[in-house]
Amino acid sequence: MATTRRPLIAGNWKMNLDHLQSIAFVQKLAWALKDKKFHEQEVEVTVFPPFTDLRSVQTLINADNLPVGLGAQDLSPHDEGAHTGDIPGVFLKALDCSYVVVGHSERRADHHEDDSHVAAKVVAALRHGLIPIVCVGETSEDLERYGASKIPVDQLAAVLAEIPQGSEFVVAYEPVWAIGSGQAATPDQAEDVCKALRETIREHHGDEAADSTRVLYGGSVKSTNIAGFMKRDNIDGALVGGASLDVDEFVAIARFPHHVSLD
Ligand code: PGA
Repeated sequence: MATTRRPLIAGNWKMNLDHLQSIAFVQKLAWALKDKKFHEQEVEVTVFPPFTDLRSVQTLINADNLPVGLGAQDLSPHDEGAHTGDIPGVFLKALDCSYVVVGHSERRADHHEDDSHVAAKVVAALRHGLIPIVCVGETSEDLERYGASKIPVDQLAAVLAEIPQGSEFVVAYEPVWAIGSGQAATPDQAEDVCKALRETIREHHGDEAADSTRVLYGGSVKSTNIAGFMKRDNIDGALVGGASLDVDEFVAIARFPHHVSLD
């Protein structure tokens, strides 16, 4: 992990916790962070609740000035109009979301989102001042057929071709086979792909973008394996699913600098 990039620990709640549960959870999270003397200057912690929770979580974060950021799990590529069930970036911005996850493999699979659809969503996020977390990753069949880097690199290149130089975004490398399986990639595997993704940014958007963009790893991250990932040069944080729903576990992940030596 390069010291100039502030690590990001992002909790992707997926379709868990309703708005009442989200309030109790975030209160507990804030207490636990305080109790464990968490420093937000050191690590950025952000939660990604379902759409229906966003207003409740926003109110709580703002009222108590909690050291927790807010993001959404998806957005529409459109800004308004006849798109039943969709949520535009402008509504997310109005709820003080800073980030939005785009192209998660579950959306690519469940909603047939292809690379051009994902790129249109990234463009929409940037249009509204949201930082997209662009998710890329290969399935186990892809891994066997093409090796680890090709699919994620192609998925990222498809997005980079559509956004202007200088855009702020985050990349999350999430091998589909590692998500929710309990079988994380090894730090070596993750580092290789994250490095290839950084070089792809360099090719398309130049050195400054490559050196400043955060590349996260996601897929069965836990407090017991986060340290191995964070020691690597090209991994700047984690997109955490299951383990982000357990306050103590999520806080332990966010406090990785206190239980690993990064030199
Ligand atoms: P997991 O999910 O941590 O439960 O594997 C990660 C993700 O899908 O973002």
